[in-house]
Amino acid sequence: MRIFLDTANIDQIRQAAKLGIISGVTTNPSLVSREGTADYEAIIKEICSIIPGPISVEVLVEGVEPMIEQAQLISSWAPNIVIKIPATTEGLEVTSALAKENIKVNFTLCFSLNQALLGTLAGATYVSPFVGRLDDAGHNGMEVVKDIVDVFAHYQLTTQVIAASIRHPQHCVTAAKAGAHIATVPYKVLMQMLHHPLTDVGVARFLSDWQGVSRK
Ligand code: G3P
Repeated sequence: MRIFLDTANIDQIRQAAKLGIISGVTTNPSLVSREGTADYEAIIKEICSIIPGPISVEVLVEGVEPMIEQAQLISSWAPNIVIKIPATTEGLEVTSALAKENIKVNFTLCFSLNQALLGTLAGATYVSPFVGRLDDAGHNGMEVVKDIVDVFAHYQLTTQVIAASIRHPQHCVTAAKAGAHIATVPYKVLMQMLHHPLTDVGVARFLSDWQGVSRK
């Protein structure tokens, strides 16, 4: 399972890039709005220059024609941009049109296997089931991820499944076990995936034992 960073924060992206394990970034309008800039193009271009992998960028308009036009514009900003299109009727039509132009789509705000299936039939490169928001609504988000992964594998569909709306490190464990191709995680969760108190205790003990020997 590959890891994408789910943020529009440049410092977090730079920090995570140094670790050498991030292969893409997903953004959305809420994440970008938290960064206090109205210059969508500038922030997206900066993210694209830091991480060479796929950078998901959401359209900010409604309606088939406006979404297609904006997607075409956004995808011209950098070669690694993937356009996030919501799993709506209009979104499906837009996804089909963009796929015909070889513009990669991340079919987002997916909350069911059916939505994901329609997204892949429309030509989406990625589908993003929102695990945390399903859990919030009293469903089992990771079961939806597993169903999508299993059905795509059964029919040998090449669309990749991004487990999104990840809220805690256990989500990453279950996403990997479910066979998600990618988990997109907030920076805080990425750090939580790595940290273990026994590692910290072990490092401290090894160093203090070694200092004891070298002082003799
Ligand atoms: O990748 C989608 C993600 O940004 C949504 O997360 O926590 O707002 O449900 P959340």
